[in-house]
Amino acid sequence: MKRIALWAFLLVLTTSCAAPSPIPTASPTLENTPTLINTVIPTLAPTETPVPMNCDQISAISVLAFESSTTMDIFAANRRLARTVNLGEALEFPDKGNWQWVNKEEIFYVVSQAGFTAVRIPINFAAHAESAPPYSIQDSFWESVDSLVNKAMKCGLVVIINMHNFGYESQIMRTESDYFLVLWDQIAEHYKDYPEASLYFELFNEPGDPYLWNTILFQGISVVRKSNPTRPIIIGLADWGQASGLATLKLPDDQGLIVSFHYYNPQEFTHQGAEWMEGAYKWLGTTWDGTPDEIAVIDQDFDRVSYWVQSRRHPVPIFLGEFGSLSKADQESRVRWTAAVRQAAEEHGFPWGYWDLCNTGSPTFGIFDCYTTRPAIQGKWDEGLFKALIPPQ
Ligand code: BGC
Repeated sequence: MKRIALWAFLLVLTTSCAAPSPIPTASPTLENTPTLINTVIPTLAPTETPVPMNCDQISAISVLAFESSTTMDIFAANRRLARTVNLGEALEFPDKGNWQWVNKEEIFYVVSQAGFTAVRIPINFAAHAESAPPYSIQDSFWESVDSLVNKAMKCGLVVIINMHNFGYESQIMRTESDYFLVLWDQIAEHYKDYPEASLYFELFNEPGDPYLWNTILFQGISVVRKSNPTRPIIIGLADWGQASGLATLKLPDDQGLIVSFHYYNPQEFTHQGAEWMEGAYKWLGTTWDGTPDEIAVIDQDFDRVSYWVQSRRHPVPIFLGEFGSLSKADQESRVRWTAAVRQAAEEHGFPWGYWDLCNTGSPTFGIFDCYTTRPAIQGKWDEGLFKALIPPQ
């Protein structure tokens, strides 16, 4: 959830490019989550020699599974997002971001082996395109995006390409709607040959203005459909992604849409100490105790989303695309809240996406230590939060 775009606090991020990689042949089926070889949290004693962590084995399994899939069922597509993790702090910044730290096959290997089924990649395309027509996205940026997408897919993960932020702003201005559409035309064209079981599009993260959003989402879907007639498209909600945005949402008649909401309630708990939110420092110390009343609030919030679906003439699948809490909050409360939200989502039939994968220092939403120079296999999960998301069987 971002109400104010403040880039001033962003870290100075280094840049780097990867060689273009071919379209991966590995693609999971819509129906089946690829077999997970194990779900053990990877740990290696520092003295052990790390074995190469690549996804060759996973790919072989996924290719077989995909080849037997023939039809697009948007509810099955949504189920493939069952346990998603966001890759924030990588490509959504105006400069290149910390993408090189996550641009390792072994990170995706670890994520996939841990039991996640999908990654949502927030990407700031507007910051890497010409600022005047034809608004071409830079070749070097395509290389960065393709590199992450291909690695994730090779590791059997479904990938969500999420347009996230617009240059130096978190929102699209009314005067920029043509720019938004031209960018989507390029993105859709670029990925049109990627398997639609493995690569989904999300038009924009946390739009603010409902009227502008309803206009440009219709136009954006039409643009995407020219080259991708049935690929799943995720539609976020106005009012910064919150479920309250359902009240104003209008959707075209398109059987390939998934509606996504974000959940950070109570904000005083999840965003305590957030630099980009005015007044968030005075929330420091807020706990979440998991009382019956606190749990009931989550259930009621999610019930309202289910009622919205039931009230529609045509049902549409729901994805909880982001939820998480900042590390400035009490850790035990974070674990309790994360487990409660995850459980409520699963009980309501909403696949979920945790924000965020990489632990970026303090404060962070991240659960995995991506940023060390050690191999990913030696990286560490935040054990409490990890188990809150993927409880041991
Ligand atoms: C924003 C992040 C923010 C997160 C939680 C995301 O959509 O892009 O910057 O940390 O929501 O507020």
